[in-house]
Amino acid sequence: TDIEKGTYPHFMLKEIDEQPLVMRKIIQAYQDENGRLQINEEITNAMLKADRIYIVACGTSYHAGLVGKQLIEKLAEIPVEVHLASEFGYNMPLLSKRPLFIFISQSGETADSRAVLVKVKEMGYRALTITNVPGSTLSREADDTLLLHAGPEIAVASTKAYTAQIAVLAILASVAGAAKRVPTDLDLVKELGIAASAMDTLCDAKEAFEQIAAEYLPATINCFFIGRSIDYFVGLEGALKLKEISYIQAEGFAGGELKHGTIALIEKGTPVIALATQTNVNGSIRANVKEVETRGAHTCIISMKGLDTAGDRYVLPHVHELLTPLISVIPLQLIAYYAALHRGCDVDKPRNLAKSVTVE
Ligand code: G6P
Repeated sequence: TDIEKGTYPHFMLKEIDEQPLVMRKIIQAYQDENGRLQINEEITNAMLKADRIYIVACGTSYHAGLVGKQLIEKLAEIPVEVHLASEFGYNMPLLSKRPLFIFISQSGETADSRAVLVKVKEMGYRALTITNVPGSTLSREADDTLLLHAGPEIAVASTKAYTAQIAVLAILASVAGAAKRVPTDLDLVKELGIAASAMDTLCDAKEAFEQIAAEYLPATINCFFIGRSIDYFVGLEGALKLKEISYIQAEGFAGGELKHGTIALIEKGTPVIALATQTNVNGSIRANVKEVETRGAHTCIISMKGLDTAGDRYVLPHVHELLTPLISVIPLQLIAYYAALHRGCDVDKPRNLAKSVTVE
């Protein structure tokens, strides 16, 4: 590859740092001459015609899809289902009358996703691919493509593609919502700009996250991420990052589900990282933190400015509540990075994993 790491020790760290720039590139790429967000009219029309959207993806792209569902349902008022590509064939959902399929794939080459694309195209349905790679297989075989503009992602663990996917999904949702005249208070260009600046702040605060990794994950065998609502989805991604590169057993849990089983796993010293960025669940996620603390967990709250944050380990800069995944994921990416580094793991090329998996 002719992509260089420059002064960075790893591609993953470089790619984490590129996220603010990628945000700004995406804003530019999707603006018209008047500064308004736009997407190709055919795609907007396909969104407006759809009575239900089926998002299909794998891995990190699936986690971006979970956030995308919230964005599309809130901003465009179209119902969305999110499916793991590898499961879709066995558990084919009963489709609505006018489905639209959205494939999210950084590489555009994932075989599991492609198998579903081929199938739904055979059935005569319309498909949109959201990918980082122009001309990739999923891009060529779908009816339409939206590009991530994230630049090549080399590290196996996906970082900048995840935030780029969420930003592009937000733009898609917002443009469709505007075309449908769904009322909103969201000025997305402005809010994505604010998120990009918040990302800068976080990328400049690496020591704080290296410290968390050193303090919470030195010799641990497991780690839990908890959150509610949109924070839960980001917790799933944080757990995946940690598993992929540090080989620490990690799981993301919905705060409310803890009491239904997983709390049994908490013992003295178990690290629990809680995300608390959403006003409507702020009290309940903090109650979960108390519950696990009572059972000995070593807890770390990452919250957001504007909420009641006294005593929290890290307070994120404030961004629009629908866009918090863009920034709350960065501490989790960096915690995973430093945990892997401290363990002497091969950060960019973790064992048993491939950047794009072209077999089913
Ligand atoms: C592989 C990678 C993951 C990635 C997944 C989906 O398993 O290791 O990081 O999230 O594939 O890849 P895609 O290119 O379809 O987004």
